[in-house]
Amino acid sequence: MSKERLGVGFIGSGFNARFHMRAWTGVRDADVLGVFSPNSKHAEEAAGLSRQLNVGDAKAYDSITAMVADPNIHAIWLCGPNHTRIENVEEIVDAVNAGKGELKGIACEKPLARTVAEAKRVAELVKGAGINHGYLENQVFAPHIVRGRDLIWARGAALTGRPYLARAAEEHSGPHMPWFWRGNLQGGGVLNDMMCHSVEVVRHLLTKPGAPRSSIKPVNITAHIASLKWTRPEYVERLKQTMGPDVDYSKQPAEDFASSTIQYEAEDGSTLLGEVTTSWSFVGAGLRLSAELLGPEYSMSWNTLDTSLKLFFSRQVTGEAGEDLVEKQNAEIGLMPVIPDEPVMYGYEGENRHFTQAFLRGETPTLTFDDGVEVMEILMTSYMSAEAGRTLAFRPEGLDAFTPAVARGEWRG
Ligand SMILES: NC(=O)c1ccc[n+]([C@@H]2O[C@H](COP(=O)([O-])OP(=O)(O)OC[C@H]3O[C@@H](n4cnc5c(N)ncnc54)[C@H](O)[C@@H]3O)[C@@H](O)[C@H]2O)c1
Repeated sequence: MSKERLGVGFIGSGFNARFHMRAWTGVRDADVLGVFSPNSKHAEEAAGLSRQLNVGDAKAYDSITAMVADPNIHAIWLCGPNHTRIENVEEIVDAVNAGKGELKGIACEKPLARTVAEAKRVAELVKGAGINHGYLENQVFAPHIVRGRDLIWARGAALTGRPYLARAAEEHSGPHMPWFWRGNLQGGGVLNDMMCHSVEVVRHLLTKPGAPRSSIKPVNITAHIASLKWTRPEYVERLKQTMGPDVDYSKQPAEDFASSTIQYEAEDGSTLLGEVTTSWSFVGAGLRLSAELLGPEYSMSWNTLDTSLKLFFSRQVTGEAGEDLVEKQNAEIGLMPVIPDEPVMYGYEGENRHFTQAFLRGETPTLTFDDGVEVMEILMTSYMSAEAGRTLAFRPEGLDAFTPAVARGEWRG
């Protein structure tokens, strides 16, 4: 057995980086050894979390270059905001190209960037530096998706024919930080932020295990976006109060609902459909991830709020608001679902285990930056379709240069 270990440095010390660190308790052969954030206090705190969780003797670094230059750091997990992707990747790659450090891999959070052009640039920079790359899409590694897909394909599809319809959705009541709400920084609204997950999930479910993603080909895309909640005057005010004056949905809203139907052609020429939907206007117990896979004689379904653990608190239990039962929790009383180990259930643990092994062995991970680019192509075609109000053949003209009206600040809801 290899004794080699992977020293991992995080860019970003926020919500997502902390989720990854919590997942790391189930990852072997790798240690969280570094954190960079422009806010050194936050970097110190996240490094402290890593030590507290006993997942690595992490320290905070003053710069990305200093972290890459440390010989103990062998891989970077890129978890900064979307608008800093290119500058973050440029700094990593400059450090490697200048011989200041060596990396076995870079894993980048979804979405790979804000546009197709940016995503291609990120992929090109990393490939140019000869670094192994992984696209972090946790839901593909969620245990229910892994087991469900394996069993559906091994039993139902093997005996009665391949699945033809996959559905996936991610819904919650709105993001936790102001930059997510600002189309120019984030790259769009909920379509860019969360439909990236569902797009990859339906591609994954519809692809035969062991076959490349290219075995199913997108043919056309029909999408819709809307602002259902956050442009209502009382919610415009609430957003300003909670997210600050720069988040003004009376002037520059982003969509809080999106849906897209992606028609694929299978390897045998048959038609497959992927239906994805997402929203920041769902008020339930908390974050809800769901997926379905349907074929001629079988189906699977997954819903993270259908938990086997539920707690009941009477109206006498008037404690503080928190996120201790489920991510993006909306209530603390009544009958509440609880996900006992969210980093495992959402797929972060399986994801980090996979990318650790791929980087240590020098193998191509299941998901690479090429997948990140392809997801971005589907997302941007969805925006183009929603703006045009019609079905678009894939790939439409001008896709690389396209920036959604929401991201340009020109969408009015
Ligand atoms: N897989 C998922 O389900 C999931 C969930 C949440 C976020 N994300 C993705 O993870 C990324 C981070 O999101 P988050 O929720 O942690 O956001 P966040 O705002 O909570 O944290 C962002 C972090 O980046 C740091 N940062 C700010 N400017 C930076 C810069 N110039 N260079 C490097 N770092 C900088 C911030 O200090 C902060 O630590 C985003 O791309 C987001 O889309 C993925």
